[in-house]
Amino acid sequence: MSGDPVQVPMQIDEQKLALVTGAAGVLGIAVTRALAADGYRVIMVDLDQDRLGTLAADIGPSAIPWALDISRPAGVIEASERIRQRCGDISVLVNNAGILSNNKLCETGDEEWRRLLSVNLDGAFYLCREWLGGMKERGWGRIVNIGSLAMKTGGLTAGTSYTVSKGGMAALTLSVAREAAPFGVTVNAIAPAYIRTPMITEFLSPEQQEQLLEQIPVKRFCEPEEVAHAVGFLVSPLSGFITGEIIDINGGLHMD
Ligand SMILES: NC(=O)c1ccc[n+]([C@@H]2O[C@H](COP(=O)([O-])OP(=O)(O)OC[C@H]3O[C@@H](n4cnc5c(N)ncnc54)[C@H](O)[C@@H]3O)[C@@H](O)[C@H]2O)c1
Repeated sequence: MSGDPVQVPMQIDEQKLALVTGAAGVLGIAVTRALAADGYRVIMVDLDQDRLGTLAADIGPSAIPWALDISRPAGVIEASERIRQRCGDISVLVNNAGILSNNKLCETGDEEWRRLLSVNLDGAFYLCREWLGGMKERGWGRIVNIGSLAMKTGGLTAGTSYTVSKGGMAALTLSVAREAAPFGVTVNAIAPAYIRTPMITEFLSPEQQEQLLEQIPVKRFCEPEEVAHAVGFLVSPLSGFITGEIIDINGGLHMD
């Protein structure tokens, strides 16, 4: 082994600025904390300014709360411009905001269909469109899209609109990954399942939880920090050769 430095494009963006959507949620706050611990300033995007403010205060000055509805294109454009002026350009974008519906096709109304697609898919598209250009110009960037096991399985318990929105996110990941690859920008997705959130701990009975655990080979639910760890891995400089990948985090429930 020589003592020469590894020959990979290292991060040239000294200011290490990240943007995480859905940052006030269970997974978003875990991702925000992990990036902040890694030296990033993190723009925390979510709907509720008060909740964001409380969470950001707990993390410290590296967390910047930013109330924004990502499903509104004009709002995303305006907020991105203000973020650029106030904080600079981001080099890491984590599209994590998402809403769930378990309604299958025949129970899915028009409004629900549009709402799920606009938050889960359109929001990621608007944000990628705003920030990819700067990453390409600077020759370094990381985009991580939080998908779901549903994107690979047709949705087990998840409904049609949710499953389609996450399937669209998989295609968005591959399309933008191909476009961005020559510019030092990687684009990947994570497909988690059964993260230990209130949806499981509060809304499922102990019997229902037991039934689920029976099916998961590792016999436990996923901790939010485990997904945040995968995000940290994907955004690190030495992950620059991984792009257009969808990483499963499902305890062996689905293997491909
Ligand atoms: N929890 C799980 O088991 C699980 C499994 C697979 C995938 N996921 C995905 O992980 C992501 C995070 O899930 P979570 O469990 O942390 O959910 P969560 O409900 O705790 O967090 C989602 C956050 O997104 C925010 N949000 C919703 N609509 C928004 C909008 N229009 N603009 C900005 N923010 C908005 C919400 O306010 C919320 O804080 C989602 O994309 C979800 O689909 C979760």
